[in-house]
Amino acid sequence: MREGDIELLRQLADYESTLDFSQPGMDLGWSWRDVRVQPTTLNRLYVEGYLDNPFKSNSYTGYLLSQKAKDLLDGIAAAESEAPEPLDVPDDLFADIIGHEDVKALLRAVLQAEKPVHVLLAGPPALAKSLFLWDIERLAGPRALWLVGSATSRAGLWDLVAERRPYVVLIDELDKMSAPDTAALLSMMEGGRLVRAKKGRELELRNLVRVVAASNRLTSLSPELRSRFAVCRLRAYSRSDFQAVVKGVLVRREDVDPELAAEIARRLDGRTQDERDAVRVARLAPQLGVAEAVRLLVGDGD
Ligand SMILES: Nc1ncnc2c1ncn2[C@@H]1O[C@H](COP(=O)(O)OP(=O)(O)OP(=O)(O)O)[C@@H](O)[C@H]1O
Ligand SMILES: [Mg+2]
Repeated sequence: MREGDIELLRQLADYESTLDFSQPGMDLGWSWRDVRVQPTTLNRLYVEGYLDNPFKSNSYTGYLLSQKAKDLLDGIAAAESEAPEPLDVPDDLFADIIGHEDVKALLRAVLQAEKPVHVLLAGPPALAKSLFLWDIERLAGPRALWLVGSATSRAGLWDLVAERRPYVVLIDELDKMSAPDTAALLSMMEGGRLVRAKKGRELELRNLVRVVAASNRLTSLSPELRSRFAVCRLRAYSRSDFQAVVKGVLVRREDVDPELAAEIARRLDGRTQDERDAVRVARLAPQLGVAEAVRLLVGDGD
């Protein structure tokens, strides 16, 4: 199956439902001209077993949806009509994220709520915004749809949501999303109709998705997009929080010895608020020593 195939099969099923199979000749099937789909695409679907080929001559290839395709569409329709199972949120979700207790509490509630509340994590770099999205993705598995704002337009939000029917959509770098995707997102978040810009096709979303997004900036977002989110502002770490986060990140994620991590945290105190500086220092410390790594990477604080 390729991107867009499910929608295509739906379209073919819609077409077949308009046909009167009691008429003579209908058992030969329809041709690519009837449905305006490239012959090569239909042939591929036939090879993959989604179409039957009841008739073939030099001038006419007739197709009908196969039982396999009908079963697939029936299965999807059944799944869509059921209310989505809420996620099972274990106690240790977000355990690898230090601090940010209010954000954790809010996101846990959102993941378990019956109806969607959308959350936007906003704030300066290196405050664990992406880490929150990753943890949710890990929890939701295939029920999460992960998008990076700057890269969504290739497949298109519309197609991705239509095919994957996610429980939660995770969007990193929301401020970089393309205009068509942003338009689709606006209506998706209100549970309205999703209209596909290119072909004007509509998608009825019976089960609402929830969106968790991250962005550095709020100013570049349109007012209507911003209004659809509960905006959760992550503030830069205080000096003591920064110390705790540096030690935690270095020991847990970078496998740094706790004493070395404490030394790096101490030497960076008051010089930077960026966790990524600590990671860079730790990675170069074996070559340079901590003091020299701090001097070269962060400056000597003058
Ligand atoms: N509170 C924290 N707990 C654990 N790790 C943290 C925390 N804050 C920052 N980090 C670490 O800092 C690094 C940057 O985090 P992350 O990528 O999530 O930042 P971000 O907020 O998405 O930044 P950006 O806005 O630049 O995308 C990660 O390697 C992460 O491990
Ligand atoms: Mg990020």
